Amino acid sequence: MTTEEYRPLLEPAAVIDSEEEQYFNKVCNRNLYLATFVAVLGPLSFGFVLGYSSPAIPELEANSDPYLNLDSTQASWFASLVTLGAAVGGIIGGWIVDKIGRKLSLMMCAVPYVSGFTMIIGAQNIWMLYGGRVLTGLASGVTSLVVPVYISETAHPKVRGMLGSCVQLMVVIGIMGAYVGGMVLTWYWLAVLSSLPPTIMVVLMCFMPETPRYLLSKNKRAEALQVLAWLRGPEVDYEWECRQIEASCDEQDTKFALSELKNPSIYKPFLIGIFLMLFQQLSGINAVMFYAETIFDQANFENSSEGSVIVGVVQVVFTAVAALIMDKAGRKLLLALSAFIMSISAAVFGVYFRIWQANINNSSLHKTDILTVQNSVSEATTAPTWLPLVCLVIFIAGFALGCGPIPWLVMSEIFPVRARGLASGACVLANWSTAFLVTKEFHDLVENITQYGTFWLFSSLCFMNVLFTVFFVPETKGKTLEQIEAHFKATA
Ligand code: BGC
Repeated sequence: MTTEEYRPLLEPAAVIDSEEEQYFNKVCNRNLYLATFVAVLGPLSFGFVLGYSSPAIPELEANSDPYLNLDSTQASWFASLVTLGAAVGGIIGGWIVDKIGRKLSLMMCAVPYVSGFTMIIGAQNIWMLYGGRVLTGLASGVTSLVVPVYISETAHPKVRGMLGSCVQLMVVIGIMGAYVGGMVLTWYWLAVLSSLPPTIMVVLMCFMPETPRYLLSKNKRAEALQVLAWLRGPEVDYEWECRQIEASCDEQDTKFALSELKNPSIYKPFLIGIFLMLFQQLSGINAVMFYAETIFDQANFENSSEGSVIVGVVQVVFTAVAALIMDKAGRKLLLALSAFIMSISAAVFGVYFRIWQANINNSSLHKTDILTVQNSVSEATTAPTWLPLVCLVIFIAGFALGCGPIPWLVMSEIFPVRARGLASGACVLANWSTAFLVTKEFHDLVENITQYGTFWLFSSLCFMNVLFTVFFVPETKGKTLEQIEAHFKATA
């Protein structure tokens, strides 16, 4: 298509733009914030699930009950089964989110969350502990799909970035909550505490609405109007917004067929979503977080759980900063900057390990096991312990600024409504299965290509993410979901 051919598309959009500006300037956001707050209790629960294993594992490893005592292999399964459960949750979530709706899918998550934690609380053997981790992981997978979709479909362009980033903010608050809770509670009581957020979520969610876009896609116009009236307040002509959404739903009357994946307006956003998820996990974030304890040990922290809390605080602070600036700075800039910061800090990490390794080799300590190398280092060298600490903090802050929140946000923005469930399900599956692979294979990778090789690999993958973002990720800041969809149609 030439620019001339585009003109009829562009001109009405320009008119709508100013109309839209006036409309969204007048909306009252109070109820929207309330609905978002209730929905993000889901990600808070999923943060608790992710953070739970860190304080629980040392206790379970030292447990005097022989039926509930974990060795190191069992402990690593206890930690990583969550990611497998979540990958399956992505498939289930992608299906139910279109079948039973966004609201009900979110409420359903409470069942595996609470039953999973109950299974851990009442565990008689290791299999029940594993079962609890798979169930809570499954719930996390569904939540990580449904909540971004719920928020993006209820929010409007002026605040969608900020509200969408609250998903990740609540995940990291949940992780930190589990770390802090783990300092004062046993693994048993921590599981009781962790089951509170999903319980509160399911009760409050009863009073929250379904999304207007979902209702319109099911031809429930009257209900959609009521929801829009509630979400936007009485000051605005919500009929206008309803018509805008309807126009794009009308075009999508037919059911989504897999053969449409050949269509660039479908496969382009689909590939962008999948690659953003792959790059998020291939940055090594989960491996680095797991590694944090060793680094804090080296930096002479008396209590490594204090180190975990520091990691938690850094994540919360920088994710909050990202949420506040998301609608001003835009997704693309923040994501590229974030991946660049991660790439540099991972590279410096690698240099640090390289120097250490050389020193160790010179001292004829040919050891490949990562923990042993770390422990031998302090004997063999006087390398600065603050350097990996600074790298770690910068790496995690970099992640929190973009690579953490943005893939989830963009996933909820770029798919057409009728492909949203399926495409988001594929993204969630890609994310969690890669998380599983990276955390499970991290030790093997270190054995095969050494720790500096591993960090340089993470660094290059982060750099590839910078290039990918610059060349392929569209800016969605300030656009309605319908305009984003039109963008992909126009560039098809
Ligand atoms: C990622 C998780 C990660 C979490 C905490 C999420 O966005 O998907 O893999 O553990 O952030 O940083």
